[in-house]
Amino acid sequence: MGLWQGSLEVLGLAKMSAIDPTFWRGKRVFITGHTGFKGSWLSLWLQQLGAQVKGFALPAPTNPSVFDLCDVANGMESEIADIRDLEVIRQSMASFSPEILIHMAAQPLVRHSYLDPVETYQTNVLGTVNVLEAARSVDNLKVIINITTDKCYHNNEWEWGYRENDPMGGDDPYSSSKGCAELVSAAYKKSFFDLAEKPKRIATVRAGNVIGGGDWAEDRLIPDILKSFEKAESVKLRNPHAIRPWQHVLEPLSGYLMLVEQLWNVGDDYLSAWNFGPHQESMITVGLIAESMASQWGSGAKVEMDAGNHPHEASILKLDISRAMSQLGWAPKLSLQQALGLIIEWHKAYIENRNMREITLQQIKVFNDE
Ligand SMILES: NC(=O)c1ccc[n+]([C@@H]2O[C@H](COP(=O)([O-])OP(=O)(O)OC[C@H]3O[C@@H](n4cnc5c(N)ncnc54)[C@H](O)[C@@H]3O)[C@@H](O)[C@H]2O)c1
Repeated sequence: MGLWQGSLEVLGLAKMSAIDPTFWRGKRVFITGHTGFKGSWLSLWLQQLGAQVKGFALPAPTNPSVFDLCDVANGMESEIADIRDLEVIRQSMASFSPEILIHMAAQPLVRHSYLDPVETYQTNVLGTVNVLEAARSVDNLKVIINITTDKCYHNNEWEWGYRENDPMGGDDPYSSSKGCAELVSAAYKKSFFDLAEKPKRIATVRAGNVIGGGDWAEDRLIPDILKSFEKAESVKLRNPHAIRPWQHVLEPLSGYLMLVEQLWNVGDDYLSAWNFGPHQESMITVGLIAESMASQWGSGAKVEMDAGNHPHEASILKLDISRAMSQLGWAPKLSLQQALGLIIEWHKAYIENRNMREITLQQIKVFNDE
């Protein structure tokens, strides 16, 4: 415990507008994708806040996973099932009768979407339709958050950050499927949720590249870097000059929680879309991230470029977070160095076989309390 408390003290986190634990105590929250990387962190956070949580997802997509290592299912209801099956998701939601729905189940990888575009659209577009369709018949349900991505924007390869009112787009199946999921949410809002006897408040959230302890997804930068460092092999970078809005997983998750509170308590001003990204100085190249991690890791860490022929990925993508900062009072807490430091500490604790549930909960607690 000392390690984590100590590390965050060293980080000198600033006091920020906080999540209200009294709001969450006893709230019934249904989360899709709870076995995934972000879903596991969020489920643990909701458990810590005292919410009654039910998760609905396919099995954890990686092995190892935060879900298994942290025994996330212990402390919530966990249903392993497929959002592509309308009847199953409908029954699952109806029997739990949530007050809040957080939809994050998805096929989330750009490169996999080139290999299996049909699965990607079925999960990300029709799966979203099914989840929102199931939500329509839950009377108690008041607030819905649909997690999409910064990649939903039409990418102009320009250096300005995208704003929430910029057009949707996406050149690869993943990005385009998430643009579609945005359109689905907007249509459900206007066609059904606004008009319901008890209107449901829905917002979509677009976060940048999320990093954190326990992400073992294929083809993601940080897991690739850590795997190589662990084996004392060189990291091969596919797109060393690509710029991304990197942020620790706790940053957007804190934004989602704050947004739910405002949607619940206030309502109309908080509908529609929200960007959650880092400050400008954390929007840096893949190459700089890798070098910075190598210097924090210590001996055995090496970085080199992979000159292979890779499918297209946007080379520059930045987010404008003015809306979240000014209207929600949300702001990123961690510098990129601090976020990378936390990831390395988490990963080293994992290598040392420590109790990862305790360590993850402790990281959440300290981040939340600061
Ligand atoms: N990780 C990032 O950098 C990032 C950035 C922006 C947005 N997002 C979005 O955040 C969400 C979570 O991403 P993640 O990184 O945790 O991904 P992940 O792959 O770790 O988790 C995906 C989750 O979705 C579930 N899932 C996939 N297909 C399903 C299906 N057909 N039915 C039910 N469950 C299914 C998986 O079981 C898992 O629980 C996704 O919507 C993703 O698009 C992620």
